[in-house]
Amino acid sequence: MNIPANSPLPIGNGQRVSEDIPNDGLLNQISPLIPAELQHLKEAQSKMDDLSRNDWENLMQYRKLYNREQQAKQALAMLDLQKDDPSYGFRINNYRHCLQSATMVMRDGGSEEEIVVALFHDLGFVVCPDNHGEFSATLLANYVSEQQYWMLRHHASFLDYHTQTHPNSNGNNREQYRGHPYFEYTAKWVEHYDQTSIQTQYDTAPLDFFEPMVYRIFTRPSKGIQLHLAP
Ligand SMILES: [Fe+2]
Ligand SMILES: [Fe+2]
Repeated sequence: MNIPANSPLPIGNGQRVSEDIPNDGLLNQISPLIPAELQHLKEAQSKMDDLSRNDWENLMQYRKLYNREQQAKQALAMLDLQKDDPSYGFRINNYRHCLQSATMVMRDGGSEEEIVVALFHDLGFVVCPDNHGEFSATLLANYVSEQQYWMLRHHASFLDYHTQTHPNSNGNNREQYRGHPYFEYTAKWVEHYDQTSIQTQYDTAPLDFFEPMVYRIFTRPSKGIQLHLAP
């Protein structure tokens, strides 16, 4: 598209702009606040250029409270959404694979962090298949160790070692990382908890069992790292 150079910015006046695009039914409706006693921005502040430093300071404060409540809840909701999804051939779907992996890690004495990492390791497997390791690594980056981040980011390459008969799999994919300090851990992790968590017959814990752990991990102080993945 050509973004118009000199025309006015698209600021609304409470009226329908055109009939050719449908209306979402929320025109002139305000979203509720969390926590409810805080203040919304004023209606006249229709673009970010209009905000004062004081507005931003308030928003920064509100956002901390908001994230504290919402981050774990939304991550769990994203997983819960997959609960009744079909499978494409494995006997259990991606949701149960994630729960099973987390259950296995817990039985082997994994820390709360390691359990939550397993729970979310394939969260993006369906919506972001080709980069799902980066997806979950980025989700958890500011709340887990460097080792867990690295394992999440690269686990799919390491899993290839266990899918050698797959026509498109490169069983040597992990070799590019040989010698890396987290190589052995990641290799063992996929061997024990990823290639195995495809079973109907493995006794698996439900999502609500893991919920308090997820809240505790996401309410850790953020490391505040903004990741810049390779272009
Ligand atoms: Fe994966
Ligand atoms: Fe997996």
